[in-house]
Amino acid sequence: VTIRRATIEDIICMQNANLHNLPENYMLKYYMYHILSWPEASFVATTTDLNEPELDELSLEDGKGNEIKLDPHYVAPGEKLVGYVLTKMNDDPDQQNEPPNGHITSLSVMRTYRRMGIAEKLMRQALFALREVYQAEYVSLHVRQSNRAALHLYRDTLEFELLNVEKSYYQDGEDAYAMKKVLNLDE
Ligand code: ACO
Repeated sequence: VTIRRATIEDIICMQNANLHNLPENYMLKYYMYHILSWPEASFVATTTDLNEPELDELSLEDGKGNEIKLDPHYVAPGEKLVGYVLTKMNDDPDQQNEPPNGHITSLSVMRTYRRMGIAEKLMRQALFALREVYQAEYVSLHVRQSNRAALHLYRDTLEFELLNVEKSYYQDGEDAYAMKKVLNLDE
């Protein structure tokens, strides 16, 4: 598995992986906005092992009982996407008095590739780039209270601090933990 910077050619595969792995989904133009605005801040994990069934048979149910077949996860001939992290700088005009800070919009790894350290590697690359390239002094993210795997990664492995609970942050009513990590230059 290789970790490299995400490019505009990767965004359909990133969106497919996101649809497969998470209920929080975004329009393609939002991926495009990330990659065009902060081209060095998002990363993908890819494999050349093409005998991976999970990545071949992607289909979704559209809520009305119809099956939607998704594009295969080929980012290039012979290269499939197994994970991504989509990040941005905070560009909220209401927060202009804040120091520059980054935001983790979405992270996921395909199921058969989990527990191999891929998410940690993607996150560390993104945190480094947000700090070195975009001068982020800290990064923030939201995570579901029930998401044990992601909470372990953020709180224990990457040492994010818990800021507060945002009530009914998600569409289904679940609360979110708002988390933050200060990016030290000497780390
Ligand atoms: N239960 C407990 N701990 C776990 C689990 C789990 N299911 N999965 C991973 N961990 C731990 C690992 O043991 C490791 O801990 P360590 O540093 O103590 O050894 C740490 O988390 C990092 O593990 P990785 O192998 O790097 O994580 P992985 O590549 O498996 O990806 C992820 C973790 C991204 C959460 C994956 O489970 C996933 O894609 N889940 C579905 C999508 C999702 O929930 N994304 C995050 C949403 S929040 C957001 O996007 C801002």
